[in-house]
Amino acid sequence: MLEITFADPALPTSGALALLVAEGAGTSGLWGAADEATGGAVTRAFAAAEFTGKDGQSVTILAPGAGLTRIVAAGLGKEAEITDRKIEEAAGTLAAALTREKVAALAADGHAGGKAAAAAMGAVLRSYRFDTYRTKQKPEDLPKLAALTILTGERKAAEAEWAKLKAVADGVFFTRDLVSEPANILYPAEMASRIEKLAGLGLKIEVFGQAELEALGFGSLLGVSMGSAQPPRMVVMQWQGGGAEKPVAFIGKGVTFDTGGISIKPAGGMEDMKWDMAGAGAVVGLMAALAGRKAKVNAVGLVGLVENMPSGTAQRPGDVVKSYSGQTIEVLNTDAEGRLVLADVLWYAQQKFDPRFMVDMATLTGAIIVALGHEHAGMFTNDDDLAQKLLAAGTASGEKLWRMPMGREYDKQLKSDIADMKNITGRPGSSITAAAFLARFVNEKPWAHLDIAGTAWSSKDSATIPKGATAFGVRLLDRLVAEHFES
Ligand code: BES
Ligand code: MN
Ligand code: ZN
Repeated sequence: MLEITFADPALPTSGALALLVAEGAGTSGLWGAADEATGGAVTRAFAAAEFTGKDGQSVTILAPGAGLTRIVAAGLGKEAEITDRKIEEAAGTLAAALTREKVAALAADGHAGGKAAAAAMGAVLRSYRFDTYRTKQKPEDLPKLAALTILTGERKAAEAEWAKLKAVADGVFFTRDLVSEPANILYPAEMASRIEKLAGLGLKIEVFGQAELEALGFGSLLGVSMGSAQPPRMVVMQWQGGGAEKPVAFIGKGVTFDTGGISIKPAGGMEDMKWDMAGAGAVVGLMAALAGRKAKVNAVGLVGLVENMPSGTAQRPGDVVKSYSGQTIEVLNTDAEGRLVLADVLWYAQQKFDPRFMVDMATLTGAIIVALGHEHAGMFTNDDDLAQKLLAAGTASGEKLWRMPMGREYDKQLKSDIADMKNITGRPGSSITAAAFLARFVNEKPWAHLDIAGTAWSSKDSATIPKGATAFGVRLLDRLVAEHFES
């Protein structure tokens, strides 16, 4: 991880300088000083590049003088509309422009005053890399920048704030690593043992194997796992940071590879299904973040880990399974497996913990990508208050949600000819009927389901996320907890 230090604002005399610039703001603070020291090179470059500080804009000035190797600037937009999120994005853009530098300082004075920790967060989030399997990297392929100094007049406050944000960044990186791993390396047992390593943060971790899940009666989850040579796991993580109150609960779909099973998927793009455990991955990173920053909350994270494979022992279309709730399910399509996994874990979460609310995350349906693209995750919930809180946390964290409908008409479509329900409906509204299926395993509890199929992985770089695993959900739900559920 990019190492962050904070220092008092002073114009550096070597290395690179990064500037956060509000739209239409006159020269002030460090960037005014940099302009003066370089004989006006900064204002001249801004004019030549038509850089005015709009958000999304950035400019690089090479060898500007005054001993500096480069000055990079990113826009924050209008001063009155600057948020922590905009600071993060601009700082992420700057971090990407600094990778060829050995030494760099980022000026978080002036318009970004008091938000130095947000700048640190943006820079760190963008600097993530997954290099585990590269054995032939040349020095020029690797970032030179290992540390970034953030210049701020409020050093002490920034350091305290960063200590907490760093724990969240650690959680995000843990999730991105899990989601990036290929499925031959990361199967259910391996994912469970990586989660167990988080016990050092003070999390209580329990792992359930095949025999324990059989004893509990997890027929729905176990049906999905039947075709795989890799045995399933359920992992329960508990964080006790609050008083005597009931916990909040987070549940994740952890299909370490989804071939579709006997209802097999087409070959093209099937490799993407290594990240069908991204919901579980985000729950794990969230629990690491909460524990790492010692959140004043009781929280429990539960993940159902299986591999969905076709084989002689695999579940068949038409099979009927009995879920942990006692309800029976006709499995008409073995590729609608995520809901079968979540059904048992959701029911267990309620029976065991009686939580204040539950949020599940799952790469559940391709249809949510058709509906919302890659910009918003779909949110389905039975609780308007939870909806408002989640939507606000989404805007603030940049992990945006869009509320989707629910209702009796959708639920009716789950009627089966031989069991209590079937696991698929027709194509129309199939993200919604998937949520309706999950709702049958929610027992009068505030609950939200986040369909993150479109947001868990990105095929292009964005300001704070290099292309690949996004860890969508970690920052969103950390924010939800921080704003509303800490004592
Ligand atoms: N894991 C997939 C959903 C998915 C698709 C996630 C594309 C990310 C990208 C899920 O298990 C699945 O296969 N869903 C089916 C459901 C259908 C069989 C009712 C789908 O979306 O096609
Ligand atoms: Mn599937
Ligand atoms: Zn799946």
